[in-house]
Amino acid sequence: MKAIIPAAGFGTRMRPLTFTRPKPVLNVAGKPIIVHAIETLVAAGILDIGIVVSEITRPAVQQAVEELPEVRIEFLDQPEMLGLGHAVLMGREWVGQDDVCVYLGDNLFQKGVGSFVETFQREQPAAVIALVEVENPKAFGVAELDGQRIVRLVEKPQVPPSHLAVAGVYCFSPAIFDELVRLKPSARGEYEITDAIQALIDGGRTVLGQTVEGWWKDTGQPRDLIEANHLLLEKLEGNVQGQVIESRLSGPVVLARSAVVRNSKIVGPAMIGEGVVIEDAYIGPFTSIGAGTVIRHAEVEHSVIERECVVENVETRLQDCLLGLRAVVRGGRRIPKTLKLTLSDESIVELT
Ligand code: UTP
Repeated sequence: MKAIIPAAGFGTRMRPLTFTRPKPVLNVAGKPIIVHAIETLVAAGILDIGIVVSEITRPAVQQAVEELPEVRIEFLDQPEMLGLGHAVLMGREWVGQDDVCVYLGDNLFQKGVGSFVETFQREQPAAVIALVEVENPKAFGVAELDGQRIVRLVEKPQVPPSHLAVAGVYCFSPAIFDELVRLKPSARGEYEITDAIQALIDGGRTVLGQTVEGWWKDTGQPRDLIEANHLLLEKLEGNVQGQVIESRLSGPVVLARSAVVRNSKIVGPAMIGEGVVIEDAYIGPFTSIGAGTVIRHAEVEHSVIERECVVENVETRLQDCLLGLRAVVRGGRRIPKTLKLTLSDESIVELT
């Protein structure tokens, strides 16, 4: 089985973080989102991975995945953003007569995708679709089931037939491509993968639904990154390799070899990258700090700080913050009580 990761989208809901970089390369728990996706596929035994990119997303995505061991990666160009169905169709020739797992690059699954692949290989249906129970099915593609078989899929229904929404993993036989080439754009002008799946069902093929076990996170908006980071760090195992000088570390902390912590307190789970300097600071639980960042005279918790940032002389704790590449938060004398920040790359906040 091969896999396709659609990663050509604009990530408009993730702005401002996606003004300068595509969503799949944003970091959570120390790695780009797309690297988490690839590792999930590798864990399910899938090593041939096609990543759908656009002219805009390709260079950053390529850079983010270039050093991954084991996998064989193919880049599939999508010249225009015409929807998920169209994105998957870009992989038609490359997939050939193989089966394919489509994995939305911005989704995270606690238990991975192995169980969906296993069901697909055991039952040999035309498709297995991952489903997740949601409170607000009107906002999703929703499945109507008869036993394990999906009999109808509806996009964002007014009257939902169930609370089972389509999550971001699908396993398909190559028959899906026969439906994708025949697709017409939907009312919103996109080629919908759900329409192609419905066509499989209408053609009498077996499409199975399987409920996701454990948590599932779709990282569409900035606050989703904080939540995804939290979920991923929950299972963090500590590994302190860097220098710890007159500091206290508790809970699971990953401290990269060239990182330095001086006169500070760190409460894990926390992930601290190469070359990071933490001085006279407090780093609280569920924080990820990217390589080369400096945190000095400041307190940070429950936040995702990208590479080469500076957080300095800030007496108010930074909490639930997202800082893009090389963002700077520098304090002065008069400090407000709380700060809740979402900063895109190279932003500067001066609290003087
Ligand atoms: P989304 O619609 O959730 O992501 O598509 P997006 O387009 O990046 O974000 P918004 O809606 O503008 O905020 C789910 C996945 O499918 C890919 C996206 O890159 C994302 O990983 N996708 C979507 C494509 O590759 N091509 C498309 O035409 C549409």
